[in-house]
Amino acid sequence: MAKAKTTAYFCQSCGYESSKWMGQCPACREWNTFVEEPVAPSKSAGKMQKRNANEPVKLSSIEMNTEDRVQTGIHELDRVLGGGIVAGSLILVGGDPGIGKSTLLLQVCQNLSTQNRKVLYISGEESLRQIKIRAERIGSFTNDLMLLCETNLEVIEEAINRMKPEIVIIDSIQTMYREDVSSAPGSVSQVRESTSTFMQIAKGMNISIFLVGHVTKEGVVAGPRVLEHMVDTVLYFEGDRHAAYRILRGVKNRFGSTNEIGVFEMREKGLAEVANPSEFMLNGKPEGASGSVVACSMEGTRPILIEIQALVCHSNFGIPRRTAAGTDFNRVNLLMAVLEKRVGLQLSACDAYVNLAGGIKMNEPAVDLGIVMAIVSSFKNQPVDDKTIVFGEVGLSGEVRAVNMAEQRVLEARKLGFETVVLPKVSLDSLPKIGGISLKGVKTVRDAIGIIG
Ligand SMILES: Nc1ncnc2c1ncn2[C@@H]1O[C@H](COP(=O)(O)OP(=O)(O)OP(=O)(O)O)[C@@H](O)[C@H]1O
Ligand SMILES: [Mg+2]
Repeated sequence: MAKAKTTAYFCQSCGYESSKWMGQCPACREWNTFVEEPVAPSKSAGKMQKRNANEPVKLSSIEMNTEDRVQTGIHELDRVLGGGIVAGSLILVGGDPGIGKSTLLLQVCQNLSTQNRKVLYISGEESLRQIKIRAERIGSFTNDLMLLCETNLEVIEEAINRMKPEIVIIDSIQTMYREDVSSAPGSVSQVRESTSTFMQIAKGMNISIFLVGHVTKEGVVAGPRVLEHMVDTVLYFEGDRHAAYRILRGVKNRFGSTNEIGVFEMREKGLAEVANPSEFMLNGKPEGASGSVVACSMEGTRPILIEIQALVCHSNFGIPRRTAAGTDFNRVNLLMAVLEKRVGLQLSACDAYVNLAGGIKMNEPAVDLGIVMAIVSSFKNQPVDDKTIVFGEVGLSGEVRAVNMAEQRVLEARKLGFETVVLPKVSLDSLPKIGGISLKGVKTVRDAIGIIG
């Protein structure tokens, strides 16, 4: 009889399993990522099945109450979670080093302990004293919060069983290890096994668990796509290292929309919510400068106004240089080709640099018209009126196409004191009457250029 396999090779970048070592991972195309690890024991899967082996029940007989969601008191986070933490859910929070994951979760603990909820913060990375320093920084805790510095899962499981908390924070999943898995903490099998243990705790005891996950240089949670499948919600904390604001984005959510974002600002006293991101993003917009246009992008249910800047200048080389920061580079090239062909601007000999101010990233097609206007304004060296915003998708024949949620965008512009909105004609026709702001519908890019100057 063949000997049962005890080890296999795992790609440390995506979790791909192979029976032999390979130089390049066939799944994620990374080089030199295979490491030999013992094959995970299958006994955890058996345990899970046993626990769930109870009688089928009728859907209608399951009782629901709205209390099931716990509000964290941080509105931006609650919105991204779809209205609060669902009891028994497993939430993965990923993000670059030093972005503020631990700070955000400690603030969650601060708010929850104020509501008299039993919270347990488990850190595998910092000592009790270091957590205390952070806690001092973010303010006072009215009620006590339970802390545990531990990385051994058996000890953690025992502590959870004893304390029976409502919410547990694990900082971070890469430091946790199970003794029966012999590979090092942070390896694919350890991360996978630890997550599955936490999943059993969460579902079995109805405890909500936040897992902090570090990201690799490519920006995915280290060790694993597999991990993303196992948890209920995946949130990414992102932001420009040099800018103070941070964006919390839902990538997967079994209990809510994934389009929502939460905007925070890193202050000395921890993360502060930014209730009106548009105002924040437009801070410092130059007045009367050419190549600067305000556009509007929807992030979930919220419209966000952003400044798009373009610099178009004559190229000294045969191949013009083009860059796009915060938006899709190919999209910018495409829009420039549309301007050249449909409007007749001689852009092929020009360098063009397009930038979304503030380091934010937006890829919604509705910002097309903003990009186009910024390029035209810079090319002609004519400023666009400061009190005007534009939005609309641009098609290949130079037509301006309808976008959704036009009304919300117009209302946001009015709220922030803008006087004119240039929008697709089709969207304008479907809008109810909105007073206090002038609306100009355009059918083509040429029309829009005509209005703006
Ligand atoms: N006194 C302070 N004033 C302003 N910002 C601070 C201050 N102290 C720390 N910070 C910010 O907090 C960040 C660290 O936050 P935190 O430890 O929560 O990040 P993290 O995502 O948990 O990092 P890691 O991946 O290392 O665990 C720092 O990068 C810095 O931006
Ligand atoms: Mg941390």
